[in-house]
Order: sequence, then C-alpha cells, then structure tokens
Amino acid sequence: MIGRHTGVWTMTDPVLDAAERLTRGQLAELQRERLRTTLQHAYANVPFYRQAFDAAGVRPEDCTGLSDLGRFPFTTKADLRAHYPFGMFAVPGERIRRIHASSGTTGQPTVVGYTDRDLSTWADVVARSLRAAGARTGDKVHVAYGYGLFTGGLGAHYGAERLGCTVIPASGGMTARQVRLIQDFGPRVIMVTPSYMLTLLDEFERQGVDPRSTSLRVGIFGAEPWTEGMRREIEDRFALDACDIYGLSEVMGPGVAQECVETKDGLHIWEDHFYPEVVDPVTGEVLPDGEHGELVLTSLTKEAMPVVRYRTRDLTRLLPGTARVFRRMERITGRSDDLIILRGVNLFPAQIEEIVLQVPGVAPHFQLRLTREGRMDRLTVRAEARPGATPERRAGAAGEIARRVKDDVGVTVAVEIVEPESLERSVGKIKRIVDLRERPAM
Ligand code: DLL
Repeated sequence: MIGRHTGVWTMTDPVLDAAERLTRGQLAELQRERLRTTLQHAYANVPFYRQAFDAAGVRPEDCTGLSDLGRFPFTTKADLRAHYPFGMFAVPGERIRRIHASSGTTGQPTVVGYTDRDLSTWADVVARSLRAAGARTGDKVHVAYGYGLFTGGLGAHYGAERLGCTVIPASGGMTARQVRLIQDFGPRVIMVTPSYMLTLLDEFERQGVDPRSTSLRVGIFGAEPWTEGMRREIEDRFALDACDIYGLSEVMGPGVAQECVETKDGLHIWEDHFYPEVVDPVTGEVLPDGEHGELVLTSLTKEAMPVVRYRTRDLTRLLPGTARVFRRMERITGRSDDLIILRGVNLFPAQIEEIVLQVPGVAPHFQLRLTREGRMDRLTVRAEARPGATPERRAGAAGEIARRVKDDVGVTVAVEIVEPESLERSVGKIKRIVDLRERPAM
C-alpha cells in the first residue's frame, strides 16, 4: 500500500506488534487486568489516591469490569499541582530515572516521573506511532520538538531509536540551521509541531529552496491543535504525508494516540497502555462512544506516576478502530482552556484556522486578539497576506474571512490583513490568542 497523498513515497503496509494484533475481546481482558493492577498500585502507594478513593467510598477491588472505572474519582491538573513536586509518585525516589515537567501557562509546573520500565514503555508506544505514520526501521528522523523538560523532544527521540531509526536531535529554534540540516542529512521523517513546520516552510522559501524537493516524506505533527486545512497546506507544499500525534506529559508525553497514514481518519489511542473515556465537561457524566466531550485518561501500565481518570481538558469523541483494533479519537477540536466565549458564542482557534486556510491571498499565519470596548468583547482576526497579494486581494480576503466566520461560527469579528512575515513565528507550540481585555478589578 502507498500513501494517499504521495502516491509513491510512503510505505504504509502495516507492521504490527503483538498488542496491535489482539482481538477486541483479548484487548478488553488485558485492560481489565491492567486497570485493576493500576488502581491497587495507586491506592497502596500514593496518599492522594488513597484519600480520594476513600472519600468516594471505592476500593480498587470494586473494579471488576471496565465500566466500574466510572465509580472512581477524577484527577485534575490542580491535584497534580497541589502535590508539587513529587507527591504523586508511587515508587521510591531511587527508582525514578527521569523527570519531565509541563510549563503550564499559569502558576506551578506539573512534574512527572518515569521508572526504567516506564521509559521503555514510552519508547515502545512512540516507535509504534512512528510505524503507524509510515516510518520504518533504517529511516533518518529529524526531531524538531524541543528537548528539555518538555516531553516532545526526548519522547520522540527514544521512540525513533527504539524503532531502529537514525535520530537527528535538532530540537526547536535556529530555523535557518534546521533547513540546512534537512538538506544535508536527508531525513525521511520529521517530528515537529505543525506551527513550527510552517516556520520551516517559510525559511525554505526564503532560502530559495523548493520544500517539495527535500527528502522528507513523513511528517508527525502534534502538541497543539491543527486542522485538515493545515494538513493539506503542509502536505501539498512539502510533498509528504502528514499524520497527527497526541499526548500529554501528565499521562506520558507524545505517543498516547497516533493517526495511521493508511487512513488518516483520527488518532488510534494505544489502549493497551491508556484507557480512554469521554465525559461531559460540566457534569462529569461518562458519555457513550461517538459523543463529543472531554477526554479522560487512565494509565494502565505506568509505575512511577499512575494516573487515574485524568481530566485532559481536551475535547474530542471516541470512534471505533479502523486501521488498528484500538479505538480512535477525533482530532482535538480544542482545549476547554482555549475556548473563547464571544457574546455568548463558543469559538475555538481551530475554527478560524480552517477558514483562514481556505481564503486565497492570506498565509496560514494568524492571531486572535481579544479586546474590550465598554462592556463588549471584541475579537480581531489578524491574518498575514501572502507575499505579492495586491491591496484589492487583501481587502477581499478580509471581507471573506469576516463573512465566513459570521456564517460558520455565528459571530461578528473584525479582520486585519497584516504584512507578510509580520506576525510572530512559532518555534514550538504557538500561542494563537492574545488577550488584551482588562481584567475586572477584584
Ligand atoms: O504536548 C506532548 C506531545 C509532544 C504531544 C509532542 C505530541 C507531540 P504537554 O506539553 O503536556 O505535552 O501538552 C499536552 O497539548 O493536553 C493537548 O491540549 C495538546 N496536544 C498535544 N497533542 C495534540 C494534538 C505534549 N495532536 C497538551 N492535537 C494536550 C491537539 C494536542 N492538541
């Protein structure tokens, strides 16, 4: 089989590991067993879980089937912060082999730890993700996720090594050098945030190099929301197959779920290690597969820091497996934290991205500015003109973006088309929303 987009470049014959060949029944049996072990481990070794389970009146042995998980309490980011730095660890300090932390936009970072076995599991799931995206043993993999406390760089790195690839640990930043390395070393695979991939795209063009002429054939993009429109833009301008990778540090890092190149229809959750539920974000009620809500994850094999019913704040829905036995989650439409409520209408930056990418004359770079005039919130979409776009074309594009936002989202926004190269570029996760509203006095 070959990739949809490229026709010739990406080999997609699935190479499956043992867990990927389980039947649904066998998988459920494995999950039940692992879930029970996880609950016992958390209860026995983490005072927070012991107190939380006791307060909810449940014991690990009450979980006899997967549906019993719903009786257990949720864990939130605030719980993790309250136990900063190591209060959620379930093994003695000398068994912790690595620490990562998520920066968090507010307050304290969230700290996570891994045992030797956790690091090995993580490498396995990332290796599986790479294979699902079309990478193969022997490929060169350019990793431009940031290295450091962020899980992206090192997570991708060890997974690519586990698959038997040659890793180029570029990390984020120094964009001109990245372009040079890609040309000189000839990687077939790139792992990077989609917004930084656009920054690389601009740099290729600035250097007068046709991005389609590079050796890159597989792109594995995640760590932030992106859209089908962005997939088309990246695939067409680079001539590669682009797949989505999902993860979060609290649960592991990258490699919790991955899209398969042969179907590109949402991300298969590696359910032998992470048990998903989708709940109503307001009531916490567990929703049936197919319904939209907040993703909640329970680790099934983690030793250092098991997580039970962790509220991700990521909004999606669960769908049956296609290319793999594992269930899929739809591409994340947004995080509850990024939700803009404008005069009563809910809006996510990804909805604007989808529109901006369809309008000729504007580049896929945009920013959302929130201001307040009197008692009214106002949203300005600032989108960059493509180089060479005439004043008429820019004016037309502004009108078209405003009209489409009104029609598709149901809200009036202002649109400014700004000069090419004038908006700040991403070197990692991009910040789309600039909130200039004055905070009400407390
Ligand atoms: O972003 C881990 C990661 C690294 C995933 C590299 C993929 C690639 P955190 O910094 O803890 O970890 O941020 C996790 O990022 O809850 C989502 O809101 C968002 N996110 C991650 N992947 C995706 C994705 C890493 N594919 C938070 N689509 C998550 C949309 C994503 N959002």
